[in-house]
Amino acid sequence: MKNDIKEILFSEEEIAKKVKELAQKITEDYRGKDLTVIGILKGSNIFMGDLIRKIDIPLQIDFMVVSSYGQSTESSGIVKVLKDLDYSIEGKNILIVEDIIDTGLTLHYLKGILQKRNPNSIKICTLLDKPARRKVDLEVDYVGFQIPDEFIVGYGIDYSEKYRNLPFVAVLKDEVYKK
Ligand code: IMP
Ligand code: MG
Repeated sequence: MKNDIKEILFSEEEIAKKVKELAQKITEDYRGKDLTVIGILKGSNIFMGDLIRKIDIPLQIDFMVVSSYGQSTESSGIVKVLKDLDYSIEGKNILIVEDIIDTGLTLHYLKGILQKRNPNSIKICTLLDKPARRKVDLEVDYVGFQIPDEFIVGYGIDYSEKYRNLPFVAVLKDEVYKK
């Protein structure tokens, strides 16, 4: 697996430091309020696990499974909800946790769905953001790192369901995509 890597963008240590910073901000912003953290699977799994353990206020968690890419590396704009939330979000403060925002289509669509369920508030937290690729207007409240228009993997993020278990965020060698 490590032979496929061209460059490490963010090391385990850099990610851990950033996750702690994000969690501290979230802790301050939601102190004294209810908080439901919603992870968008599968990509946000590892980020969310690390993030919530650094948030120092009571919270609930829930998950959605969505699919927007299939096996390709391009967003289709068509988002399929494969698993919905287990609980009602009416009147709740919702924090959506995403691994990476690219075109913004996935979260724009999801935010629209969740807004209709009358939560008290919805905010978005992403570890990685590629603002240059945005196709729709999307307010992102907590961003770990902004990255250029490059396809990345690791720390939960996949290429064709592989590389999610890399502990860092990396760019793959070009030949990996030709296999
Ligand atoms: P969007 O709808 O274009 O914003 O795409 C968001 C989703 O696409 C993310 O949750 C990822 O699953 C996937 N994605 C976007 N960029 C990358 C990347 O560089 N590597 C792997 N997956 C990505
Ligand atoms: Mg993905």
